[in-house]
Amino acid sequence: MLKIAKEKDLVAIVEAAVEKHGAHADVFIPILLEINQNFGHVPGEAIRLVRSKLHQPEDQILVSESQLYGLASFYDMLSTEKTGRHMVQFCESAPCHVQGGRELWRSVQQTLKLKAGETDPEGRFTLKTVSCLGVCGVGPVMLVDDDLYGNVEPEHLADIFAKYE
Ligand code: FES
Repeated sequence: MLKIAKEKDLVAIVEAAVEKHGAHADVFIPILLEINQNFGHVPGEAIRLVRSKLHQPEDQILVSESQLYGLASFYDMLSTEKTGRHMVQFCESAPCHVQGGRELWRSVQQTLKLKAGETDPEGRFTLKTVSCLGVCGVGPVMLVDDDLYGNVEPEHLADIFAKYE
């Protein structure tokens, strides 16, 4: 399950991430990843805070807020949108696709009542597609948070999703 930190923890989490990784241009991604892990996404306020921490007088690197936002939007592992408590990542690459993935994808969307990139109104699940997860031999494959499910069939979905509140 994704651990979702409260907004009030934001300053402490950003400060801890900057302290851990350093206030340098080459550690933006690890800092943003840590924020993403805590909140399930990278809030805009966190981007402003990171920038203020990195933009110290002795630091010659001037990085704009929009550049940081661009980084957060670019990487698949980061999200600038608020996500659900559980992230469902469905492999859409060809080997899984031909092993039943196409039918399973339809069932996943019907079961969750979501399309790729959407989060349900209760904030329970976010659904997204990903490229090969490296376990094609047990396709079709999907991840729910850190749990990997292989050889998934449509009739397994209700039991799988019921494990996540
Ligand atoms: S194609 Fe799905 S895990 Fe490789």
